[in-house]
Amino acid sequence: MRMVVLGLGYLGATHAACMAELGHEVLGIEVVPEKRAQLAAGEVPFYEPGLPELLKRHIDSGALTVSGSYADAADFADVFFIAVGTPQKKGEYSADLRYVDAAIEELVPLLTRDALILGKSTVPVGTARRLSERADELAKDIDVEVAWNPEFLREGFAVDDTLHPDRVVLGTFPGGNAEVVCREIYKSMISDGTPFIVTDPPTAELVKTSANAFLATKISFINAIAEVCDAAGADVKAIADAIGYDARIGRKFLNAGLGFGGGCLPKDIRAFMARAGELGAAEALTFLREVDNVNMRRRTRMVELTREVCGGSLLGKRIAILGSAFKPESDDVRDSPALNVAGQIQLQGASVTVFDPKAMDNSRKLFPTLDYAATALEACEAADAVLVLTEWKEFIQLDPVEVAKVTRTQNLIDGRMCLDPLAWKRAGWSYRV
Ligand code: UGA
Repeated sequence: MRMVVLGLGYLGATHAACMAELGHEVLGIEVVPEKRAQLAAGEVPFYEPGLPELLKRHIDSGALTVSGSYADAADFADVFFIAVGTPQKKGEYSADLRYVDAAIEELVPLLTRDALILGKSTVPVGTARRLSERADELAKDIDVEVAWNPEFLREGFAVDDTLHPDRVVLGTFPGGNAEVVCREIYKSMISDGTPFIVTDPPTAELVKTSANAFLATKISFINAIAEVCDAAGADVKAIADAIGYDARIGRKFLNAGLGFGGGCLPKDIRAFMARAGELGAAEALTFLREVDNVNMRRRTRMVELTREVCGGSLLGKRIAILGSAFKPESDDVRDSPALNVAGQIQLQGASVTVFDPKAMDNSRKLFPTLDYAATALEACEAADAVLVLTEWKEFIQLDPVEVAKVTRTQNLIDGRMCLDPLAWKRAGWSYRV
């Protein structure tokens, strides 16, 4: 099937390449010229394992083409995916829908045939209805159907999550064609047994927001327990392991530590609270404010812990920060807990050196005043404390004896509880979490 993907960021570029992999003919629309040029040359402008190979293959074969023109988009196909960003509004909790709105405003007046617009971006409940009404106003003597088909991919596993999702969700208005089209688009995965849930648009929008809110809640739950463990001298990791054996609870997303960041969970729970407020249901989600608070306290606590291991003051201390991406297997530093901690420690008078296997360029852009090292060991040189804040495999495999040779003091803080405490202690390190 021919289709267009509007917006080629983390979500759109992955979706476009994966749709080509499923055998479709795809046109990707990217309005930023530099990104567009890179993608058209078969290069991915961000780090996502497996995506460069997939993208290059389908650009080379011609199954995937890239353009910056909405006129090209309108010409190319009758099925359009919206995959543009919905960031948090500056100074507010709610989502900034300007890019989603712009996609409709620019595309629909150019359409000359009936079309289906499938939203993938994470949007506040009610957005599909509003866009559908706006599309009706803008459409010239044609039918433009809007339906919502939320995306659940994780960065770092984006290709696999798109090609082998846990479920496909579609929210469609009565009388539309979206179900038939989506059954065709996702035919291979549906026939492989992937659950296909067809519902109405508000439900589909809320499936996505509820999933992210639940994941965020799970992480903050275990981090709240970690706070109690700190006070009681108990081991939160052992608690997560033990309660995780209960299939109703499950061990996944119970890793205590520095908490969640990134371009999704933090802004999605805030947008969810804001939308519930607009709908008069604010009280239902007040617990999400606490989820957010627990999460942000992890960052402050990490700064305090660093000050404590440095003898009560960070002034003039050298701190090595290993990891700046919001999670491993990603170069994304949007709302990265690690970089946030690095910035706070620097503000308290320490000299901070950061190393991350993939996120150096993005980190430099966001925090140009931090120092950056070429390797983990270089970052640790003469350090008074070493903080592991993103659980990259490279850090898990560090040799504590080798690291001890370059630091000034053997103070380790394992911000992701990912290292082997015994190995580090045996090598003479003070190990804190
Ligand atoms: C998240 C969801 O997991 C995806 O299902 C969703 O599609 C995506 O948001 C989105 O809305 O687009 P992602 O932001 O890529 O995906 O990352 P996660 O793997 O969810 O991790 C989020 C944060 O939680 C990271 O900072 C990670 O370090 C942290 N985390 C995760 C923990 O602190 N503890 C855990 O146990 C798990």
